[in-house]
Amino acid sequence: MHTSVGDFPGARCNFGVRRPRAPALRRRYGAGVSDDAIQQLQGIDAELAARLDEAVDPEKLYALQVEFLGKKGKLTAKRALMGSLEPAGKKAFGQAFNAIKAAMEGRVAGRKETLEAQARLAELSRIQDLTMLPQRGHVGSVHPITSTRRALETVFRSMGFDVLDGPHVEAEQYNFDDLNIASDHPARDMQDTFFVAPLSGGQAAADLVLRTHTSPVQVRAMLTRKPPIRIIAPGTVFRRDDDATHSPTFHQIEGLCIDEGVSMADLKATMERFVRAFFGADLAIRLRPSYFPFVEPGAEFDVVCPFCERTPGETCSVCRGSHWIELGGSGMVHPNVLRAGGIDPERYTGWAFGFGIDRMAMLLHGVSHLRLMFEGDVRFLEQFPC
Ligand code: PHE
Repeated sequence: MHTSVGDFPGARCNFGVRRPRAPALRRRYGAGVSDDAIQQLQGIDAELAARLDEAVDPEKLYALQVEFLGKKGKLTAKRALMGSLEPAGKKAFGQAFNAIKAAMEGRVAGRKETLEAQARLAELSRIQDLTMLPQRGHVGSVHPITSTRRALETVFRSMGFDVLDGPHVEAEQYNFDDLNIASDHPARDMQDTFFVAPLSGGQAAADLVLRTHTSPVQVRAMLTRKPPIRIIAPGTVFRRDDDATHSPTFHQIEGLCIDEGVSMADLKATMERFVRAFFGADLAIRLRPSYFPFVEPGAEFDVVCPFCERTPGETCSVCRGSHWIELGGSGMVHPNVLRAGGIDPERYTGWAFGFGIDRMAMLLHGVSHLRLMFEGDVRFLEQFPC
């Protein structure tokens, strides 16, 4: 509105009144200017809202927070607008600025909560993943030869036998001489036996060998016990054999029974009981005449193959169609051996046997190759859980 100088009193001295220029007026009164500034703030808020989804992890959210609300952030930069405003506008702008800043901080905090909740859920679902295979600890397993030896021990213990042990490095005397094996017997030949070299500078040990069988424990039992003697002696033995069916280290179980009036019939009856208990079936057995210097008479001991019936009509792979499986040697203890053990052969008699444990373990578990037993390959051993 324009007023003329003459329109009102004192118009003559109207020098004090200056008409404000439009921008200043607008600044002073016009909400429009403030609105514009506030709209800029709101625009920044809207941009943040639109870009929140970019913040897919805490790092990206922090980057967004710095971009908008940091010291050099987009919103902070707009604080400068305040300087160009009149006091009333400043106040409105200040309030709007604080409110929008609080709202934006709220958005960031909300997004942070969402991310944390998502992370928590992901963590929970990871823990609850029931499809995960159970993690078993490595507990190891019992070697098939050990479990077979234990099973043999259980059977013979139940029949009143004690379990004895003997040294692996044995006196030639016990391994050969006292078992009626003459010093020129081929069994002493280097082909069969590991002789132990003398200790350098020490006592000559030419009379020590790695025991070639468990039979020396017979002598040790006789020297330390009085009849009636009923013992078994399972353990490792050593020979210089090494092919598909022989290993230089293998295992035997010795049996010895000495008392008055013991006969071959007792041996056969005990073996029948053993076979029934061990193989779980009434399998026929047979004794085939054979020669071992420490028994007289001597016999190979065979048991009917329990595996033939698994493959009726086919040649059994275990006994190769012979229907018999040879377990080892046996016989009546030679009088010379009783004598060497300090036992009167006129009063006492006894029987003995020596079977291969590894062969029995192979039979029990269907293992095709002896070497598997000694290679220590865990892929093989794991197949025999305790
Ligand atoms: N010691 C004999 C061997 O190793 C087996 C055996 C033991 C034979 C006892 C008869 C009596 O072949």
